[in-house]
Amino acid sequence: MSVPIKNNISWVGKVDWELRKFHGEEYSTHKGTSYNSYLVREEKTALIETVWAPFAKEYVRNLQKSIDLNTIDYIIANHGEIDHSGALPELMRQIPETPVYCTANAVKSLKGQYHQDWNFKIVKSGDRLNLGDKDLIFIEAPMLHWPDSMFCYLTVDNVLFSTDAFGQHLATERLFNDLVDQSELFQECIKYYANILTPFSSFVDRKIKEFVSMNLPLDMICTSHGVVWRDNPIQIVTKYLEWSANYQENQITIIYDSMWDATRKIAEAIAQGIAEQDGTVLVKIFNIARADKNDIITEVFKSKAILVGSPTINKGILSAVAGILEEIRGLGFKNKKAAAFGAYGWSGESVRMITERLKEGGFTLVNDGLKLLWSPDNEGLAACKAFGNNFAREAVFASNQ
Ligand code: FEO
Repeated sequence: MSVPIKNNISWVGKVDWELRKFHGEEYSTHKGTSYNSYLVREEKTALIETVWAPFAKEYVRNLQKSIDLNTIDYIIANHGEIDHSGALPELMRQIPETPVYCTANAVKSLKGQYHQDWNFKIVKSGDRLNLGDKDLIFIEAPMLHWPDSMFCYLTVDNVLFSTDAFGQHLATERLFNDLVDQSELFQECIKYYANILTPFSSFVDRKIKEFVSMNLPLDMICTSHGVVWRDNPIQIVTKYLEWSANYQENQITIIYDSMWDATRKIAEAIAQGIAEQDGTVLVKIFNIARADKNDIITEVFKSKAILVGSPTINKGILSAVAGILEEIRGLGFKNKKAAAFGAYGWSGESVRMITERLKEGGFTLVNDGLKLLWSPDNEGLAACKAFGNNFAREAVFASNQ
C-alpha cells in the first residue's frame, strides 16, 4: 500500500494492527502500531526508513508495486532499531549497492545487528543530500532515543522526518493527525513519551531548541510510528517541550500489590485522606499486579507525587512492586515526591525497602512511610487517613516551591 503524503512524498510503511507488546514484552501496545516508511521521488529518489523484520518480505513486495527498486538512489536510515531497520537485509539483498545514509553510530548499530558491510554514507548535522530541486538536511538527534537517532528535513516541502520522536503506537488507516480520535492520539503520545523518552528529556529540550534556531519552516512532521502531523504540527512539539520540563499535573498516584487485602485497605484509606485534605487533587489507585505497567508509568509521569505499597514477604516486597520500582528507577523521573506504605505480620521490611528504592529513583521522600501490623482496624484506618492528609499537604507544599 502506498499513501500520498505531500507532493512527491508517499507513505510505504506497514500498519501492525495485531501488535500488543513492543520492545519484547516491555511495552504494551493496546492500539497496535505502525512502522512508517516514506518514499521521496524527486529527480533523485530517497527511501526513508523501513519496517520491522517480520514484515520485511511483505514490505519489499509492496514497495515493488510502487517503484522499481533499482531506481531508489538513496536509503536513509534515521535510526538503527530493528522496528525501522528490520527490512533492510531483505531490501539490500535486492539492491546491495544502494547507499545507506545514516549517522556514525547507526553504522555501528546496523553492523552490530545485521553483520553486513553495506554502502554506508555517514552524515552529520547540517549535511545536505540533493534530490533535485529539494534537499534533505540531516540533523543528528542522539538519545532521541538511541545514540544513532537522526532526523532529516526536506526543503521546499518543509517536512521533518523525525524517526521515533513525536510518534506513538497507534494503528490507523487514517494516517493523518487531524483524522484520528484526538484523546486516543494524545493518550498514546504521552504514554510513548513517559515510557520511552522520559530519561532523555534534556536531549528532547535541546534538540527542539536547536531545530527552532535553524529557522526552517515546518509544514508537516512524518514520524516513524503512528500519525503524520499535518494539522498544526507544532502542537506536538509544544507538548514535547512541556513534557520534557519535569512535567506534572495535579495528580497523586497510589501503586500497590496486596496478598490478603491489608495493603489494599491501607491504599484506599490513604486515598480518602488525600481527598479530604485536598479536593482538587486527582487520586488514582492501581494494583500493579492487575494493571498494565506502562499505563501506570504514564500516570506516574503525570503525577506530582506517588505512594508505593507492598506487604512484607520473605523479608522483602512483592515481585510486581519490585518490577515497577525498577522501571520507575530506570526512567529517572525528576521533581516528584513519594512515600511508601505496607502491612506486615512479623519482620516488616517492605516500607524501608520501598523507601530506599524510591530514593534511588530520584524521588524526594515526604516521610519514612507508613507500616501497619496485620490488617488495619478502625484505628489503623484512621491512621492511614491521617497519613494521606499529611502526604497531600506535603505534595502541595512541594509543588508550590
Ligand atoms: Fe521505533 Fe527506537 O524505534
